[in-house]
Amino acid sequence: MQLTFTRPDDWHLHVRDGAGLQSVISATARCFGRAIIMPNLKPPVVTIADALAYRERIIAALPADSAFQPLMTLYLTDNTRIADIEQLSQTPEVVAVKYYPAGATTNSDAGVTDLRNVWGVLEAMQDAGIPLLIHGEVTASSVDVFDREYMFIRHILDPLLEAFPTLKVVLEHITTSEAVDFVRAGEDRLAATITAHHLLMNRNALFTGGIRPHHYCLPVLKREIHRETLVDAAISGSPRFFLGTDSAPHPRQAKESACGCAGMYSAPIAIELYAEIFEQMNALDKLEAFASFYGPDFYGLPRNSEQITLQKTDWTLPESFNFGEDQVIPLRAGKTIHWQLESAS
Ligand code: NCD
Ligand code: ZN
Repeated sequence: MQLTFTRPDDWHLHVRDGAGLQSVISATARCFGRAIIMPNLKPPVVTIADALAYRERIIAALPADSAFQPLMTLYLTDNTRIADIEQLSQTPEVVAVKYYPAGATTNSDAGVTDLRNVWGVLEAMQDAGIPLLIHGEVTASSVDVFDREYMFIRHILDPLLEAFPTLKVVLEHITTSEAVDFVRAGEDRLAATITAHHLLMNRNALFTGGIRPHHYCLPVLKREIHRETLVDAAISGSPRFFLGTDSAPHPRQAKESACGCAGMYSAPIAIELYAEIFEQMNALDKLEAFASFYGPDFYGLPRNSEQITLQKTDWTLPESFNFGEDQVIPLRAGKTIHWQLESAS
């Protein structure tokens, strides 16, 4: 069996910088036409100049014949300038602004401490039609780690959408049925990305036979009932749920440690994993729109015109990949993958 469809895009991706960037970028560029590049470098990508320079480094790291286009984002901080937002309308290379609540996840220390600090910036974004991409988790240590997304939606996102009635918002990497319900009930200016790993695994995967650091990401995996609801959303044909891998490579030692960091590396098998879950659900006919149509439609960008082909065939993923001087352990390391990207035309 094979599946040919419009080349997809990845609407949430971490590619890091320097030698690490060099190692991972081809895994995305082999398949995806474009990707929203997350700005949580150290230090973060906060100005347009930072974003354009980072974009040049990504393009320089691509294989010579690649047509892959990085879509850049700015990292929202308490000090983001309104003037920078106003300049975004003349900067098509930078398409969105990312909001990390300070301390919510990997490299988020520079994130927003209080939304009141960025009120003017959000107004400017609303006026200019710039989407706000949200890591939707509250950070208070008193809140149960499995409830952080739900609490964010209720206490931060809902009031935010009310205060900014036309601001475009993407709730990134959703993990709960509350998030699915909230997006479904919302207006067209609200959408969500869904990762392959949240579609394929529930929180048991963190503890299968022992602690599994390579299955730790943020937002953390949730109960099976949430996974099922995410799958329903992904295959529903609703244009407000689309593909975002949140592929987030880390050196092996940083994950396999007494305090392992958050992030799963899925880029080498991302579209293959989405195909696996859509096939399991008998919904392969819904994959193209989820992976290739709804993202660009929401962002107001053209859909890709080329196609990719996936073959239904078993092959074994390597145990690890080079990551600069280090190694990165991918999701499904050493395991059988059931789909294989064949060719681009
Ligand atoms: C991401 C990373 O490693 O940069 N980690 C993760 O667990 N998803 C950050 C993020 O998107 O939260
Ligand atoms: Zn991410």
